[in-house]
Amino acid sequence: MNLEHNVSLLPFNTFGIDVNADQFVRFESVSELQMLIAREEIMQNPILVLGGGSNILLTADFKGTVLKNEIKGIESFFEDEEHVLVKVGAGEVWHEFVLHCLDHGWSGVENLALIPGSVGASPMQNIGAYGVEIQQVFHEANAVSLEDGKVHTFSREDCQFGYRESIFKHELKGKMIITHVVFLLRKKPELKTTYGAIQEELNRSGITNPGIRDVAEAVMRIRKSKLPDPAMLGNAGSFFKNPEIDLKDFEVLKKAYPDMVGYELPGFKVKLAAGWMIEKAGWKGVRYGDAGCHEKQALVLVNHGKATGSEIYQLSEEIISSVHKKFGVLLHREVNIY
Ligand code: EPU
Repeated sequence: MNLEHNVSLLPFNTFGIDVNADQFVRFESVSELQMLIAREEIMQNPILVLGGGSNILLTADFKGTVLKNEIKGIESFFEDEEHVLVKVGAGEVWHEFVLHCLDHGWSGVENLALIPGSVGASPMQNIGAYGVEIQQVFHEANAVSLEDGKVHTFSREDCQFGYRESIFKHELKGKMIITHVVFLLRKKPELKTTYGAIQEELNRSGITNPGIRDVAEAVMRIRKSKLPDPAMLGNAGSFFKNPEIDLKDFEVLKKAYPDMVGYELPGFKVKLAAGWMIEKAGWKGVRYGDAGCHEKQALVLVNHGKATGSEIYQLSEEIISSVHKKFGVLLHREVNIY
């Protein structure tokens, strides 16, 4: 564990923002992390924990210590006829874990193929795509407290999962470092292909009796067709959340905009497609210098090269205010801003 000084964070965030951290150190195990937490020269400064760096926008140099989570390992430790429990190090790359599940015939995460980021970040924001959220396969997580270095276990209920939400983004923000996540996966697949685009994609490929690999491959093709690859074009996936409004307000909006996209939720609520509103407000493909709104998916902001985090943030402010002016709906950022 080598404490480095004045380190560029460019390789460690998928937006490709070039800022420096005062101090930077990697850890590969719970005990290494606990040793770091015991060091005063580390803990007296602000702490930023990085996994895959895929859900963060860095707007300035980080005046503190970056702890890079590199805890690895994928281990199944219990199974019966139907289920398997798998413990995964928080520093594993999410998509590699999905591939591991496909290779072992474990079902539950195939719809979540190709989501950038690390396993440790997955419960933080309850990652989701194509009709599945991590909470559906989450069993428990271990996390180390930054206050006393003790290991805590969080059940699904403890995590208070919501849409792109968990206790780790609120009450426990900056207080816990997730070290392992345990997933409950199925050995007999229960496929979820009802999310429109998946079934269409399977039909297109002539697959009538799909397995988990077929579903994952369909998801990968859909994602590749509209979401930019961070290795080619800096981004952090959806920049905003899809906002929820009351059904009665949606009905009013629908009169003015008959093709507006929204999904009804329980409790007379509707989840609006933020990408649709951003596109209708004229932002799709717009570029201010190197900060841009993606040309194929308006919910994704991109760095065309040398954009600063502040420029991307500024663009997001303008999008929020223009969508608010046009539709009276306030967008909230999904990405963490530092
Ligand atoms: N739409 C537009 N214009 C756009 C983008 C979207 O009109 O520029 C419309 C689409 O035509 C569609 C609707 O909006 O009718 C929804 O679009 P899409 O299916 O692409 O999904 P999304 O709601 O924009 C969410 C997640 C994605 C996830 C997809 C697929 C959030 C914030 N985003 O996007 O997650 O991959 O559904 O399930 O919930 C992420 O969180 O980083 C992410 C990429």
